[in-house]
Amino acid sequence: MDDHEQGYFTEENSAEVVIGRNKNAGDARLKEVMAVITRKLHEAVKEIEPTQKEWFEAIMFLTRTGQMCTDWRQEFILLSDTLGVSMLVDAINHRKPAGASESTVLGPFYVHDAPELPLGSNICLDHKGEDMVISGIVRDTAGRPIPNVKLDVWQTNDDGFYDVQQKGLQPDFNLRGVFRTDEAGRYWFRAVKPRFYPIPDDGPVGQLLGKLGRHPFRPAHLHFIISGDGFETLTTHIFDPDDRYIDSDAVFGVKKSLLAKFEKIDDPERARQFAFANPFWETKFDFVLAPEKKG
Ligand code: BEZ
Ligand code: FE
Repeated sequence: MDDHEQGYFTEENSAEVVIGRNKNAGDARLKEVMAVITRKLHEAVKEIEPTQKEWFEAIMFLTRTGQMCTDWRQEFILLSDTLGVSMLVDAINHRKPAGASESTVLGPFYVHDAPELPLGSNICLDHKGEDMVISGIVRDTAGRPIPNVKLDVWQTNDDGFYDVQQKGLQPDFNLRGVFRTDEAGRYWFRAVKPRFYPIPDDGPVGQLLGKLGRHPFRPAHLHFIISGDGFETLTTHIFDPDDRYIDSDAVFGVKKSLLAKFEKIDDPERARQFAFANPFWETKFDFVLAPEKKG
C-alpha cells in the first residue's frame, strides 16, 4: 500500500492524499471537480509557498468578500468577474455557430420584471443625459429576419448608476424595457447615450483592484437579453468603441464583434420626430440568434 492510500500526508503527495480520501463520493461529477480543484490548488500553494501570515491574509480577504454579500451585493460574483472567470464560463457555455452574435456577462443589475413597451418607447424616465435612438434587425444564421423576438434591455443613467442602485432617487425601471421585434424582425427604442461607470468598488474586490494598479471601470454599454422560440437566448451588450475604457474593461466583457457605432446626428427635423433635443445620438445594431441546441 502506498503512503497516499494510507492517508499519511507529506509535502510531496499532499494532493493525492486528499483526492484519495474522496474516493467514496457518491456524486461522480463532484468527485471529479474536487480532484481537479485540489490538484490545482496544491500546485499553486507549492509554487507560491505562502508564509502563514500571507495565507491568513488570503483567508481574511475571502471572509470579507463573504461578509460584503447581501441580497443586493454579490461580492463573490464581482471577484469572479474581475478575475476573468465569469467571461471564461460564459465563453465555454455559449460557443456559437459562425455568424451568430456573441454573448458577454449578464452582470448583477438585471431585473426580471421590466415593463413590456411598444417599439419606439423612450426608456429614459429621469430626463438626464444625451438623447439616443437605437435600432436594428434580429436575424437567424441564414439571414432571415425573426419576428416576435423579445429584447430585454437595461443601462445606467447619465450619472453611471442603474435604477436598482439608486432606489428612491431614480424612477423605478428607469432605462429598462422589454421590446418585441415587428414582422420584419426590426426593433427600435429611445434611450440616452450610455457612459462608462465603475463596478461597485467600495469592498474587498475594489481594494484588490487598487492594489493591482487596476481601475474599476466598465466602458459605456447597453445590456440585452434576446430570446425567441427555437433560438438560443443571447445575453450580450453593445459597446461604445470610442469609450476611454474600451480596451480595459474591469470585467473583460468587451468583444470586437460587440462594438457598435454611436453617431452624432445634427438634424432638427429628425430630432423633432423623436421628441429629442438636436443634436442627438443614433446607433444601429443587428443581432443574429443561434438555433436552439437539441437535447
Ligand atoms: C454590468 O455591466 O452591469 C456589470 C457587470 C459585471 C460586474 C458589475 C456590473
Ligand atoms: Fe452594465
